[in-house]
This record gives sequence, structure tokens and C-alpha cells, in this order.
Amino acid sequence: MGRGNLGRSLARAFRRAGHRVLLTPARHGVQALGRALLSRRRSVVFLTVPDGAIESLAGEIAAAGATPSGAAFVHCSGALGLGVLDGLPRGHAVGSFHPLQSFPEPRPPEAFRGSLVAIDASSDALRRRLQRLARDLGAKPRNVREAERVVYHAAAVFASNYLVALAGEAVELLRAIGWTEREAVAGLVPLMQGALAEVARRGPTVALTGPVRRGDVETVTRHLEALAGLDSSSRRGGGRKADVYRMLGRTALEIAKKAGLDTAAAERVDRALTRDVAATRRRRR
Ligand SMILES: NC(=O)c1ccc[n+]([C@@H]2O[C@H](COP(=O)([O-])OP(=O)(O)OC[C@H]3O[C@@H](n4cnc5c(N)ncnc54)[C@H](OP(=O)(O)O)[C@@H]3O)[C@@H](O)[C@H]2O)c1
Repeated sequence: MGRGNLGRSLARAFRRAGHRVLLTPARHGVQALGRALLSRRRSVVFLTVPDGAIESLAGEIAAAGATPSGAAFVHCSGALGLGVLDGLPRGHAVGSFHPLQSFPEPRPPEAFRGSLVAIDASSDALRRRLQRLARDLGAKPRNVREAERVVYHAAAVFASNYLVALAGEAVELLRAIGWTEREAVAGLVPLMQGALAEVARRGPTVALTGPVRRGDVETVTRHLEALAGLDSSSRRGGGRKADVYRMLGRTALEIAKKAGLDTAAAERVDRALTRDVAATRRRRR
């Protein structure tokens, strides 16, 4: 239920894998679901609606009596536990099935191949069934239980949404020196892909390169001065670019220490990252 980005992608992929699939509307679709389930009592119903709509849709399904025995109900949120399906009558197995992949639009079945799918279920039988379904898509099922879900989902946000946010920051910097967005993206994406390929091959500790990893304090300071200059000349102001650089620089510094950056160099970089370069610039003027 729910003909959005994930719903359409899952429907195509399950069809390709040989399953019988009915893709029904979520809004005003409960009666149709009820009729369909009468002849398909052992169905798994995937509620592929926005996270904030899952609980009320479960309530609507229960109120309409579209819950023949044998049917299981599954949501696809990464952050929510199974409690969001509590509105369904007791006796129904409930679960979650979260593909650790991004679907900004409906994507072809190949999108699931090799991706992880985080699974939880109220019964072992449904857990095993969802694991099989994930494997049918060429994906890798992994149990992620209630208590682990929010941290799991925060990791997903870092790896996906914030990666895009970082790309956006880098593109904006190049736009500030006159590049078009297309030129910036074309220049930066191969760099990002190379860095990611290294993370995949050797893990983040070994993959980290750059001034923080080398303990190159002068370069870090020059970056911060330039970013503070951009921040103060931009209409939004507020030190955003320099702050983002500092925060991520300190994260990179922790990795650099693990990778073997010596203590004295690490302390110098740490001081450079925490120094107020805007105040230093003002004093110099
Ligand atoms: N997109 C991703 O990258 C991704 C990845 C992993 C997991 N997920 C999870 O998958 C679920 C669906 O996400 P999505 O990105 O596919 O969502 P979406 O494309 O924004 O919308 C899903 C569908 O839900 C229905 N809908 C919209 N508003 C509704 C409302 N207020 N009440 C009931 N139904 C409503 C609509 O379908 P109808 O027109 O059929 O009513 C809509 O097409 C979410 O739980 C999300 O966390 C998404």
C-alpha cells in the first residue's frame, strides 16, 4: 500500500523475482486492500507510506476490518519500531523491512541488489519470510531490533543524506569562485567516488587523506580563514561554512589519530580547528 518511491520500486522488484504483487493506493485504498486480501490470506502487506502516516493507516486498516487471519503487515521505516503497528488486531504478525538504499524516485529492481535490508518481526516465521523476500531481491537481510533502530537509522542518515549535504557544501564553494553547478558536480563526484571506493576497500581509518590526516596546520588555518571570509560576505552569514568545516575537521582528526597521527601534530590541528579565525582576522585589520 502506497504508490510512492519505495512502494513502486518494491513492487517492480518483487514482480521481477516472481512474486504476485498488488500495488494499491494508500489514500482511499483500504477497501480495495480488504477485497484483495480475501483471496490472498497469506499475503504480506507492505505499508509504503511516509513514516508519519504509518500509524494512522494501520488504524484505518483495522477499522475497515481489512485484516483476514494469516495476513502480515510490515512497514518500511528505518527509524520506527514495531509499536507503530499496534493499532492492528492482535494475532497478526507485524514487521519492518527497511532497504538501506536511497529511492528519490522509483528505481529498477537492480537498486536492491547487494543492499542491506534491516528486518524486525513479531514472530520468527515472519522474520524468516522477510529474510527470504530480501534475498529474492538480491539484497542482504540483517536483523535490527527495536532498541538498535534509531542509532541504525542515524548511521543511515550520515551515510546517505549528509553525504549529499556535504556534496552540496562543496558545490557551493566552487560556485562561490565562479563555477557552474554542472562543472562543480562533474569535478567533485569522481573525487567523492574515489574516496568512497577507498572506504569500501580498506575502511575509513586507512581511507582518510588530506590536511587533517597529515597534520598540516597551515592549510587548515588558511581554509578556515577563507571560509570565514565567505561566511561574513554571504547574506545569510552566521559562520555556517567555517562551522561545518570545524565540526567535520574534528571528526576527521579522531580518525587521523587512530590512523597514527602523532599527538603533538594532533594537538596543533585541534587548536587550529577551535581557534576563532574570524576574531583573528578582525584583530589583524
Ligand atoms: N524513499 C527512500 O529512499 C526510502 C528508503 C528506505 C525506506 N523508505 C521508507 O519507505 C516508506 C515510504 O517512503 P517513500 O519515500 O516511498 O514515500 P513517498 O514516495 O513520499 O510516498 C509514499 C506514498 O504514500 C502515500 N501517502 C502520501 N501521503 C500520505 C498520507 N498522509 N497518508 C497516507 N498515505 C500517504 C502516497 O501513495 P498513494 O498515492 O498510493 O496513496 C505516496 O505515494 C517510508 O516509511 C520511508 O521511511 C524510503
